[in-house]
Amino acid sequence: MAKPLQIEVHNPNGKYRVISTKPMPGTRWINLLIEQNCRLEICTQKKTILSVEDILALIGDKCDGVIGQLTEDWGETLFSALSRAGGKAFSNMAVGYNNVDVNAATKYGVAVGNTPGVLTETTAELAASLSLAAARRIVEADEYMRAGLYEGWLPHLFVGNLLKGQTVGVIGAGRIGSAYARMMVEGFKMNLIYYDLYQATRLEKFITAYGNFLKANGEEPVTWKRATSMDEVLREADVISLHPILDKTTYHLVNKERLSKMKKEAILINCSRGPVIDEVALVEHLKANPMFRVGLDVFEDEPYMKPGLAEMKNAVIVPHIASASKWTREGMATLAALNVLGKIKGYPVWSNPNSVEVFLDEKSPPPAACPSIVNSKAIGLPVSKL
Ligand code: GLV
Repeated sequence: MAKPLQIEVHNPNGKYRVISTKPMPGTRWINLLIEQNCRLEICTQKKTILSVEDILALIGDKCDGVIGQLTEDWGETLFSALSRAGGKAFSNMAVGYNNVDVNAATKYGVAVGNTPGVLTETTAELAASLSLAAARRIVEADEYMRAGLYEGWLPHLFVGNLLKGQTVGVIGAGRIGSAYARMMVEGFKMNLIYYDLYQATRLEKFITAYGNFLKANGEEPVTWKRATSMDEVLREADVISLHPILDKTTYHLVNKERLSKMKKEAILINCSRGPVIDEVALVEHLKANPMFRVGLDVFEDEPYMKPGLAEMKNAVIVPHIASASKWTREGMATLAALNVLGKIKGYPVWSNPNSVEVFLDEKSPPPAACPSIVNSKAIGLPVSKL
């Protein structure tokens, strides 16, 4: 028999057994669960990614709900086991849920929660950080200093790209894409070109107003354009950030052919999901175009990188940390816990999953609702009247 996984138990006599497959930041999420009569079991096993077998063992014979992670494979096997154990609630501690088979969960009547609204700015800030790091070659320059190679100022040393007046391209102008666009337009006075099936009206209005403000102050106004195709963005933009969800239609959205349409000195940023880029084609492109730069938070086969990527000086690479600010990670833990708790308690679903601030206010108790359940309609959860 496999050795049992290490767990930490809070409120052992609680009525509802809730499992968190990982320790999560902050303590509010723990307190909210135990105050509401949950026995909370947190898996503390030193193993980064739990297997389906590990999670089956955690679920056991009786389990009311699970808070899981985006690295776990939540499909038929786990949802049928959770349902057999009496559980009807699961939440990813993430906004993305491409690791979850929502249809399988729905089949077993299990609610699937996610955590939008709390990571928009934090993720956009990382995309902006990667854009700057790539444009100004910060990582290469840092390595050079640490290697003791700096012998004095030189006219050609680590020359990069000026962002001001250049064009930023956004593929997917939803919450995070729009926040990133604003940062780059407002902060660096870049012009925007974006591609999205939906018109980003608020973003357009903001840039128009900001452009007018700059003009009134004697400065060059910023502009926006909604592209009619993704390729138009690839051809025209100097910095391009990808913000689509990952599904069959966006797998390898950026492939060899599309990379060849981009400017030779363009910068490509990905803080969405790794498989949106064909990483093998990207490595080839980086090799052939030393002035092309990339900033990556996500990878096609996490935690691995395709051969050659780690050696590329024109790539800035970080380990899937876009949502990793203290406030956001604590907020994600709270929202995930409240999704699970709300379903266990029979609460309705919150009417606007993008507007979750009220659940995050530490000074007042959270509303009696599940903040965000992606299959709420399919499982017949009513909408909160609060
Ligand atoms: C992180 O990648 C998330 O989807 O929250």
